[in-house]
Amino acid sequence: MAKACGKIILSGEHGVVYGYPAIAQCIDRSVFVKVIPRGEPGLYFEPPNVKLRTLNSELFKQIAPKLVELFGPEISHLCFQVQSDIPPGSGLGSSAALSVALVRAIFEHNHEVLSQSDTVQYALELEKIFHGNPSGVDHTTIAAQSLIWFHQGRFENIRCLNPLHFRISTTATQAGTRALITAVRRNFEKNPRHIQTLFENIACITFQMRDAIESNDRSAVGALMTKNHFLLQDLGVSTPELDRLCESAKQEGALGAKLTGAGGGGSVIALF
Ligand code: MEV
Repeated sequence: MAKACGKIILSGEHGVVYGYPAIAQCIDRSVFVKVIPRGEPGLYFEPPNVKLRTLNSELFKQIAPKLVELFGPEISHLCFQVQSDIPPGSGLGSSAALSVALVRAIFEHNHEVLSQSDTVQYALELEKIFHGNPSGVDHTTIAAQSLIWFHQGRFENIRCLNPLHFRISTTATQAGTRALITAVRRNFEKNPRHIQTLFENIACITFQMRDAIESNDRSAVGALMTKNHFLLQDLGVSTPELDRLCESAKQEGALGAKLTGAGGGGSVIALF
């Protein structure tokens, strides 16, 4: 059984699509993929603890040609069983985790060794099907399984003496990453100066956050998260529900809180 974790973005979402840096970390929720060689071919989703399998033929139709192109024609005869505790559309990297777990499952099935850089490359091809033009931060974080600095397709691990623990609150509203990236692009075309300034300010926060993490200054990390959330509000990707969740986390004593991922619903992370 292959496994891939989810992710949260601590700073830099959206700007990262335009070449600015981002900081992201893996989380302890995962997607599991098992190849059943003699099963009916397709992508089957099995909710945890329930003996019920649902064939997602729409999704399989979308990704099967790419899997065949990457790994050969025998792939279309395989049955993939998927279990996940990452809610879809939650901003927690469910599709990137599925991409990475599928790639790992195929290599595991073929008894082949898979390097981290190959995982990133293959998973990117699947992510493109899900999101059109992803920056790559989601699946790279998931493949690296750590806290990373991601900039223009390259990443490095960030030194962090005491791991940062975040509380994740997920709304019932599903975020559509592709739709939000398109909305931001339209906004950028209409008002390039303003959006560019927002991206630059977000990038400034991302640089400062790296310093704060490396020097173990949790209060500064929290304050930068909150600032980042205000800029994401200005970018038009927050919602009243996400704003309320951030406010209530701060009233409960969080050092900072922000939406994470594409926004428009999805999740909020808070640092306590
Ligand atoms: C989604 O988790 C992060 C975005 O920046 C999109 C991307 O980087 O591809 C919104």
